[in-house]
Amino acid sequence: MTRIFLIGFMGCGKTSVGKKLANLLHFEFCDTDAEIERITGKSILEIFETDGENFFREKEHAVIAELSQKTNIVVSAGGGSPYFFDNMQRMNQAGLTIYLQATPKMLKQRIIKRKHQRPLLKNTPDDELETHIAQLLHQREPDYKKCHITVEALNITARKLEKTISDYVSTKLLITSH
Ligand code: S3P
Repeated sequence: MTRIFLIGFMGCGKTSVGKKLANLLHFEFCDTDAEIERITGKSILEIFETDGENFFREKEHAVIAELSQKTNIVVSAGGGSPYFFDNMQRMNQAGLTIYLQATPKMLKQRIIKRKHQRPLLKNTPDDELETHIAQLLHQREPDYKKCHITVEALNITARKLEKTISDYVSTKLLITSH
């Protein structure tokens, strides 16, 4: 298993736990947003504002295709990516996909302070944030659930993820050896 894709809604903790997991596994770490910012020389917010969401989604799609060729890598995939194009299928074929599942309430708490950095939520008033998150999550969850493994985002650690991954891989090996 040389590619691990962490997926889930904004604020679920993909990037922070992903970096630690990559360290534990001695893998490279890549965040699709950071990669898009590096390639375009613009912040995600600027891209949405000047080039539009479609342009961003195309870049995101291209970055996922590129990262799917790399080995020994943990990828934190932007929260919307599984919902667009065939990204989810591609990630599932290229490696192990792990959904960090969280409730709208928890996501709101994590997002609210830095809401202005999130193009899709920055104009949502604080008292409507949880409902807006719930709507987006409802739309995206069928794609998130196409993952190989779902874990609770609350209290997840890199060590727990590592254990979950090795248990999953051992079970698969047992199944395929029979
Ligand atoms: C988005 C999630 C963000 C970023 C962009 C759009 C989304 O990534 O790609 O703001 O559509 O949910 P994170 O999930 O890493 O915050």
